[in-house]
Amino acid sequence: MAYNTLLFTIDGPVATISFNRPEKLNALTPEVVAEFSQALKEVRGNPAIRVLLLTGQGRAFIAGADIKQFLELDPLSARQFAVQSQGLLFELEELPIPVIACVHGFALGGGCELALACDFIYAAANAKFGQPEINLGFNPCWGGTQRLARIVGKSLAKEICLTGRFFDAEEARALGLVARVFPEANFLEECQNAALTLAAKGRVAMEAVKRVIDWGVNVDLKTGLALEAEAFALCFASPDVKEGAAAFLEKRQPRFQP
Ligand code: COA
Repeated sequence: MAYNTLLFTIDGPVATISFNRPEKLNALTPEVVAEFSQALKEVRGNPAIRVLLLTGQGRAFIAGADIKQFLELDPLSARQFAVQSQGLLFELEELPIPVIACVHGFALGGGCELALACDFIYAAANAKFGQPEINLGFNPCWGGTQRLARIVGKSLAKEICLTGRFFDAEEARALGLVARVFPEANFLEECQNAALTLAAKGRVAMEAVKRVIDWGVNVDLKTGLALEAEAFALCFASPDVKEGAAAFLEKRQPRFQP
């Protein structure tokens, strides 16, 4: 389906959603949010897609939620905004396939939080992250206080959210927010190559890794290990395991189930 505020492309097993309001640094309006949710449904409903990339047109990934809309909110509509936005990021996080946030330029406020809800972040060397909501008089509400604290720890999350300062790709990598930093010149190409590498892995095993890590970090170690054992058992329901082992023994690349 065609979108006004997004570019949605499918190239073999890799889908890319690119936020497309470059003149507003891809700020997230209600229309963008509704279209993004619809695009996620399309991804979920298409078994040929094995990896999803998120990116932005122009000089930013996403510079946050559209600040104009905050003028209209009262406490009840503000709560509804927060809960709906958090729900959208659960839709993203709960996709069964790997999702890579490909961040160049600004990833601020909701843009940073949206990237944090992806499985991991690749950053261009010019990326700038931040939770500047404090400068607008409120706290991050798309999970910024929660996912960020779970990654960088309580103290650093407070420093980032209380100061609202921007930090660059290298600092984000040192903090554990960003998996890898690439030069700007070939950034998208690097992300696409990484996506193709992931797309060749087994679907069942990739979903198992995602689920067990996402669920496991929020429970005690014994429960996490039990989840890990169950997921491991489930992998053996797929012919991928036999194919993976046979390919190793025959010294060839595995051909996992489509
Ligand atoms: N909401 C609405 N519009 C936004 C926006 C946002 N979050 N971020 C940027 N824009 C708009 C600007 O208003 C401007 O529109 P205009 O040309 O019609 O005036 C356009 O995008 C370009 O931004 P501009 O501020 O001119 O670019 P810059 O390079 O000087 O500064 C930023 C870039 C990202 C530092 C600055 O735009 C900014 O601070 N944005 C807000 C970030 C934020 O607080 N996000 C959290 C929101 S909860």
